[in-house]
Amino acid sequence: MAKTQTPEHKVLIDVPMPIKTPRLVLRPPQQGDGAALHEAKMESLEDLKKWMPWAHKPHSVEADEATCREKQAAYILREDIMLFAFAGDKLVASTGIHRFDWELRSFEIGYWVRSSETGKGYATEIATALAHYAFKALNANRVFIMHDDVNKASGAVIKKVGFNYEGLAPCSALGVDGQPVNIKHYAFTNPKDVPTLSVSW
Ligand SMILES: CC(C)(COP(=O)(O)OP(=O)(O)OC[C@H]1O[C@@H](n2cnc3c(N)ncnc32)[C@H](O)[C@@H]1OP(=O)(O)O)[C@@H](O)C(=O)NCCC(=O)NCCS
Repeated sequence: MAKTQTPEHKVLIDVPMPIKTPRLVLRPPQQGDGAALHEAKMESLEDLKKWMPWAHKPHSVEADEATCREKQAAYILREDIMLFAFAGDKLVASTGIHRFDWELRSFEIGYWVRSSETGKGYATEIATALAHYAFKALNANRVFIMHDDVNKASGAVIKKVGFNYEGLAPCSALGVDGQPVNIKHYAFTNPKDVPTLSVSW
């Protein structure tokens, strides 16, 4: 296990940005990103509504701008690391490192790709890059990811990246209809298991 030293003040933890992959630049949301987030969400709403409870809430540019500023603050406070992935100027995916434990150095990866940009390998590139980033930049001991058992597309991404399957947790989350769903859990605990990818920060 990696030796960890967590500062008393979380804001002092180094979380270097941006993250560069072969085709993408990932960085936290910032003031002024609301319109770009809104456009990507509106384009993708039918796909997002199948899996994301938040997609069923009302949407507006103003609310998305508020989300961007709140997530900018959360990044600075080291409470959440939401990230936007840009190909050139286009916001192609919203991703992030969530539900982390700075003592255990355990980090969860999540993502959605805007509908017009799916099928291009972006989710695979993002998940691989963030696994490398978590191990090398955040000194992770564990990088985990999960999906609704019936979300075959997300399962295909996770299997393609090569996360180790840990098991099925029945009725462990609420689905978009408010009913319990079965969640598949996967993780890397060894950085050598992560596929090679050029990633820098
Ligand atoms: C799931 C999602 C992230 C996939 O993004 P993507 O960028 O299209 O994925 P990739 O291009 O990296 O695909 C990786 C693999 O998954 C497979 N895959 C992707 N979408 C698929 C689908 N709908 N059905 C079956 N396989 C699929 C691809 O074929 C590819 O495998 P291959 O190279 O062997 O053909 C995207 O469809 C999405 O954002 N969906 C809505 C939100 C969501 O479900 N998020 C995840 C919540 S856990």
